[in-house]
Amino acid sequence: MREPSKNCRLGILISGRGSNMIALADAVGQGQIPGAEIALVISDKSGAAGLARASERGLKTLVIERDGRSREDHELQTIGALDEQKIDLVCLAGYMRLLSRYFVESYRGRILNIHPSLLPAFPGLAAQRQALDHGAKWSGCTVHFVDETLDGGPIVAQSIVPVLDDDTEESLSARILEQEHRLYPEAVALIVSGQYEVVGRRVLSNR
Ligand code: GRF
Repeated sequence: MREPSKNCRLGILISGRGSNMIALADAVGQGQIPGAEIALVISDKSGAAGLARASERGLKTLVIERDGRSREDHELQTIGALDEQKIDLVCLAGYMRLLSRYFVESYRGRILNIHPSLLPAFPGLAAQRQALDHGAKWSGCTVHFVDETLDGGPIVAQSIVPVLDDDTEESLSARILEQEHRLYPEAVALIVSGQYEVVGRRVLSNR
């Protein structure tokens, strides 16, 4: 994936508040993702709250606005920015765009996403609402490789939380988010270490 002597350059894509991006930045800062550096944070929305939070931490940020242009045009510019920064691993963190086959192919096996459910249950939008509406007793979060399918790529790591009888979408989301902030850095550390193999759909840790 990269020369072992060089740092793994992370590119983080956000659309909103960016709390997972901050969790990754904190983990990198605390040495919990050895060999990684955050080279670029890209938002597809100029108003994303996460942008200011990234700048406050001295991270390089870029807005590649999605509104008012074609998906192809937007993706080409995004891929161009990632290429220019020689990004090794792309981390989607609340990035509200489906990536095209072309994008996935450009960074095949080098894109991760975090999703607030135990996949393959409840892919897509409002996963916490889906879990509540379905009456699930347990939910959680999943870090997975991104492929052409919706939240369907090979699973790297998962964490489980209970769904309580008095949960609202907000309270369940908060419980899951706490786990997301722990899980994403752990999963990124595994992938950055290179100590894993993908066998079919299974991501096996060699650590
Ligand atoms: C998280 O719940 C993540 O799992 C989902 O979108 C949310 C993003 O939150 N993909 P944040 O922007 O990282 O705070």
